[in-house]
Amino acid sequence: MLKGKSILLGISGGIAVYKAAELVRLFVKEGASVHVVMTANAQRFVTPLTFQALSNNVVGRDLFSMQSESRISHIQMARLADLVVLAPATANLLAKMAAGIADDYLTTILLATTAPVMVCPAMNVKMWEHPVTQRNLRTLAELGHRIVPPGVGALACQEEGAGRLADTADILESAIRVLTPPTLAGRSILVSAGPTREHFDPVRFLSNPSSGKMGYALAKIAARRSARVCLVSGPSALPAPAGVERICVTTALQMGEAILEISSKQDAIVMTAAVSDYRPAQRAARKIKKSPEALSVLLEPNPDILGSLGAAKPPGQVLVGFAAETENLAQNARDKLMRKNLDLIVANDLTGEGAGFGSDTNEVTIIERGGEESALFLMTKEEVASHIWDRVERLFAGGKN
Ligand code: CTP
Repeated sequence: MLKGKSILLGISGGIAVYKAAELVRLFVKEGASVHVVMTANAQRFVTPLTFQALSNNVVGRDLFSMQSESRISHIQMARLADLVVLAPATANLLAKMAAGIADDYLTTILLATTAPVMVCPAMNVKMWEHPVTQRNLRTLAELGHRIVPPGVGALACQEEGAGRLADTADILESAIRVLTPPTLAGRSILVSAGPTREHFDPVRFLSNPSSGKMGYALAKIAARRSARVCLVSGPSALPAPAGVERICVTTALQMGEAILEISSKQDAIVMTAAVSDYRPAQRAARKIKKSPEALSVLLEPNPDILGSLGAAKPPGQVLVGFAAETENLAQNARDKLMRKNLDLIVANDLTGEGAGFGSDTNEVTIIERGGEESALFLMTKEEVASHIWDRVERLFAGGKN
C-alpha cells in the first residue's frame, strides 16, 4: 500500500519510543522507504542503531553533524518526504511545533517540510489533559496536521488514562489513508457484510459460514479513499475498520430494516452480506428439549433486501450485488443483475480454491450492466475491493450514475 512512498518518522523522547521500532517495520513491509529522525532524548530510550537497521537508512539526529549533513541534509530530508509521522510525539514536541521553534534536527525539518504531518502523541495522562497541551493540539489541528489520538489504558508512569501511543496498526492505517488519493471524497457509501442468524430457539439458529471479510475489506478501502462509510454487519469476529460507522445486526429482518432506513441517501450500496433466504416460522421462547422423535422446522422466506433496493433505486445511485454460485457462474450472475436491477454484480465460484467464505483471498468476475465482464485472478479481498471501487468510480465519472 505504501510502495514508492517516502515516510519520515520523527521520534521524540518518551517510553513509547520502543513502539516506533515496530512502526518502522510495518511501514517497510508495506513498501515505503523510511527515514528516521530522533531527538536527543529519544536516543536515550532506544539507540539509533536499531532504527538504522530496521529502516536501512542513516538516522538523522544531529543538526551540526558534518557526516550526516554531507550524506543527506536536513533540508533534503524535509523535501523528500511524502508524509511525516511523529510517533511518539511528546508534549514538549507539540509545544515546540505549535510555537514554531526549530532548535534541533527534527523541529528544523518540521518547519522546512511541506509534506502532510501526522502527529501521534504519547505522554502521561496529566500532561495530555493539561490545557496548554490541548491548546497546542488545537493549534496543530487548525494548521492542518492530522492528530492520531492516544489510546486509553495503563500508562508506564503507573497511572491510568489517555496517553498511550495509538496502536501501531492504527497509525499505519492512518498513514495509508493520508497517502491514498481521496477519489471517493464526498460520497456516502453503504456496505453490508457477514452472515445473518435466524433463531428457532434462544440458543440455536440457521446461518452460514460467511466471515464478513469481503464486506469489511470493501468498507476499509472506501474509507481509505475518503468516502463516508456505513457498514451494516451481521455477526462477525472482525473489528470495525477505522473511520467506518458500523451498525451491528443479527437477523435478515434487522439487516433489511437498518439498510432500507438509510438507503435512499447513499451514492453507492454494495451488498456482500450472505443473507439467509429463510427464517424459522416460529421461535420457541425456551430451548427445545431433545426427544426421540424427528423434529421439523418450518421455514418462511426472508425479504430480498437487494431486490427491494433495486426496485426503489434513486437516480444516480450505484447498486452492487454479489452472486455466490456453485454452477453456471456467469449466467446465474447476469440473471441476478437484471432481476435485481443492479449496476454491477460480483460473481464468485464457491467451488474455487482460496475463494469465498472465510478465506482471505477471493477469485471473482465483475460483470457490468452494460455487458462488460472482467475475470480477476485470485487475490486478497482488499485487492478485490480496490477493483470494485475502481469500477464504481468509473460509473460515477461516466455520469450514467
Ligand atoms: N441478498 C439480499 N437479500 C436476501 C438474499 C440475498 O439482499 N434475502 C443479496 C446478497 O447480499 C447478494 C445477492 O443478494 O448481494 C445475491 O445473493 P444470492 O443468495 O446469491 O442470490 P439469491 O437472489 O438469493 O438467489 P439464489 O439463492 O437463488 O442463488
